[in-house]
Amino acid sequence: MQAETLSMPEPTRPAPILQVSGLHKWFGALHVLRGIDFSVEAGERIAIIGGSGSGKSTFLRCLNFMETPSSGRIALDGTPLGRTTAGKPDEVRYPESELCRVRERVGMVFQQFNLFPHMTVLENAMEGLVTVKRMKKGQARERALRELHKVGLGEKTDVYPGRLSGGQQQRVAIARALAMEPEILLFDEPTSSLDPELVGEVLRVIRQLAEEGRTMLLVTHELGFAYHFATKVIFLADGVFHEVGTPDEVLKHPGQERTRAFLDRFTEFSF
Ligand SMILES: Nc1ncnc2c1ncn2[C@@H]1O[C@H](COP(=O)(O)OP(=O)(O)O)[C@@H](O)[C@H]1O
Ligand SMILES: [Mg+2]
Repeated sequence: MQAETLSMPEPTRPAPILQVSGLHKWFGALHVLRGIDFSVEAGERIAIIGGSGSGKSTFLRCLNFMETPSSGRIALDGTPLGRTTAGKPDEVRYPESELCRVRERVGMVFQQFNLFPHMTVLENAMEGLVTVKRMKKGQARERALRELHKVGLGEKTDVYPGRLSGGQQQRVAIARALAMEPEILLFDEPTSSLDPELVGEVLRVIRQLAEEGRTMLLVTHELGFAYHFATKVIFLADGVFHEVGTPDEVLKHPGQERTRAFLDRFTEFSF
């Protein structure tokens, strides 16, 4: 009787918005993610730092299933994604229809923007609404315009991406992601391919989203920004979360030698 009571979930605490358990990812013989356990509560802002090739992009890509996890499980709002067969709990199948819904709920912004060059800014921002959400064009247009205004591009709706600066293109990509009204936003080094003078305009948009209380994961080398932006910082190394803590703990007073060595390579940031 007592054991039964103890195993009851706490009624007042909602399930984390995102939960990852035992995540591994192999590319052939390359073992990139080596057992990651992780959960995100609504409203958390998590900055992920780590060396080049450490698996930061792979981790984000697994969260919205652009890469299929080799093993482990990902749950949204307490519901594990994918299907298993009785007796084979480790073999998870991911039906494409389910993954489409996941990608609507988990939005992604890439380092290289990934806009369609043959579509205008407005068409780019509407694309997912029309093709994935099957929204009527008029309604999709309205919502895309709302998000383009929000990122400061209301005047550029009929322009093609090739005519925009990198910072403007990245803001279009953010508007496109926002238009889908995702529950979680993933940013994969959103300012890494920008000229230094364009970084600020993109970070300002991300800061504005933070002020709205959105749930976000941000892979970045902008450590000064990460310090002010994040509720939690993760240092990824050797395919595991080597150190996790508050921005003060991880960026100012890292407990692990490996984290300190990584941070020492950044000479230019200040908090
Ligand atoms: N699709 C892929 N096929 C094979 N190897 C890959 C693939 N994607 C990434 N990798 C490898 O996985 C490792 C981690 O890559 P990545 O996640 O892009 O690192 P990061 O984003 O931290 O720089 C690297 O060694 C990279 O070469
Ligand atoms: Mg990367």
